[in-house]
Amino acid sequence: AGCTLQQYGVEKLDLTKATVGFSQSEKEANPFRIAETASITAEAKRVGARLITTNANSDLGKQISDIQSMLAQGAQLLIVAPLNSEGLEPALRAAREKKVPVITVDRKLSSAAPCKDYLTFIGSDFVDQGKRAGEAMAKATGGTGKVAILLGSSGNNVTTDRTSGFKDYLKASAPGLQIVAEQTGDFAREKGQQVTEQLLQANPGITAIYAQNDEMALGAVTAVRSAGKKPGQDIKIVSVDGTRNAVESIVAGDLNAVIESNPRFGPLAFSTAQKFYAGETITPTVIIQDKSYDTANAKAEVANAY
Ligand code: AHR
Repeated sequence: AGCTLQQYGVEKLDLTKATVGFSQSEKEANPFRIAETASITAEAKRVGARLITTNANSDLGKQISDIQSMLAQGAQLLIVAPLNSEGLEPALRAAREKKVPVITVDRKLSSAAPCKDYLTFIGSDFVDQGKRAGEAMAKATGGTGKVAILLGSSGNNVTTDRTSGFKDYLKASAPGLQIVAEQTGDFAREKGQQVTEQLLQANPGITAIYAQNDEMALGAVTAVRSAGKKPGQDIKIVSVDGTRNAVESIVAGDLNAVIESNPRFGPLAFSTAQKFYAGETITPTVIIQDKSYDTANAKAEVANAY
């Protein structure tokens, strides 16, 4: 299965002369988002395309109007990092009407169809990230303990996939790890800290935290310390993203492991578009590779983290 220029029904485009729109979903307060926008910006420059960027600031209505506004400004190709897995339909319809291809990156649209509502999805295997976080947790804890999960924001597949991958792994391979609490920290550092404080008060027996992104993990480190415990030792912490701060925290001993979520979509997004315009068949999903960090490689990898 795949998608060609003819099947998708759009015109050929010379990217070196094109106007490309990038719709960012969340504020650039999180290194993941900073690195994601920087990667698209750098690659647009390298290719020679003119880039328009918008930021929806975690507001779905704004993301829809951002996309409509970029279409009105003459965007000929759109790269969209969806805020939610549902709800972008009006924006996708507007792009379809103008015969503007949409490449989605990072979060996946659940009901929209590839080659129809959008061209293709480029992102991580988030279920696998959850599974790898489970493996790292089993290694850090020796396979036993009481685990709290700091969930990401709701309404997107990243949170649900990172949760199911982790839980399925524990069930099958680390039954000594018991999940005693799970609450959303909205992928934000402060909220991660607040929620961890509450969870530690309510469940003083917690010995491990799975944070679904690094920002929440760093908030959890502060909360664990204020509870008089040593992060990384008394309470093992595993998270996802691979920000430089998080990898440095492994070196410092505060975090035990981090599974990367690679935000550097620029080269893959533009090369996929170039292949599409050159007449190649594009698969519905393009998976980006993620590394992992732990005490064995963190020091050597700090400089490569974002
Ligand atoms: O969708 C990816 C997630 O969104 C990242 O892991 C998180 O840091 C960001 O907010």
